[in-house]
Amino acid sequence: MEFDFEQINNLIQSRRSVFPKDYVQGKAVDDRIVNQILENANWAPTHKLTEPWRFVVFSGNGLKKLANFQGECYKTVTTKDGTFKEERYKNLLTKPMQSSHIIAVGMKRDTENRIREVEEVGAVFCAIQNMHLTATAYGVGCYLSTGGITYFDEAKSFFGLGEEDRLIGFLNLGVIESELKPGKRKPIDEKVEWIN
Ligand SMILES: Cc1cc2nc3c(=O)[nH]c(=O)nc-3n(C[C@H](O)[C@H](O)[C@H](O)COP(=O)(O)O)c2cc1C
Repeated sequence: MEFDFEQINNLIQSRRSVFPKDYVQGKAVDDRIVNQILENANWAPTHKLTEPWRFVVFSGNGLKKLANFQGECYKTVTTKDGTFKEERYKNLLTKPMQSSHIIAVGMKRDTENRIREVEEVGAVFCAIQNMHLTATAYGVGCYLSTGGITYFDEAKSFFGLGEEDRLIGFLNLGVIESELKPGKRKPIDEKVEWIN
């Protein structure tokens, strides 16, 4: 099998997080592209083939359902612990509708817990990278959010996750017309040691 490595290097390095404010409002990403994004997620590496990634795709009216759930979940949890903020609440109730699709990403624990949690979380992040790269290749705007209710235990069951599972984040997708912005990274040499 031959790969165009220049294109692959270019794809990896030009992938950017593109946020909902830059999505064309009222335009939806084709579901066939979303299905390809999901299919490629499924080919992430996975120790002992546990395939721990789980996805719930919200689009159309589903985005409103997600918005209502996350708003109410936030309100319930933060009213109890005294951290409620009205602005944050309003934001959670409205923001999802700026995206074409939002994919809630979960990590499902293997029933026998054969694999360390860090590896299962790692496998799910590999799946997320596959998704982000696929979105980039199709010219679709994409970013991973780990804000809002991501770390609320009370949110898990809405996404089909049990107590031992983890909600990892929300992959936002949208139609974009603008070019991807240049990225910023410190040189790789600062992070590598070669021992020959
Ligand atoms: C684990 C993880 C969680 C992230 N969570 C958020 C988030 O909650 N909000 C946000 O604006 N960006 C989030 N991002 C996106 C980063 O802000 C983004 O990757 C970073 O600014 C580098 O930009 P680039 O993705 O365009 O290279 C997250 C990225 C990762 C890997």
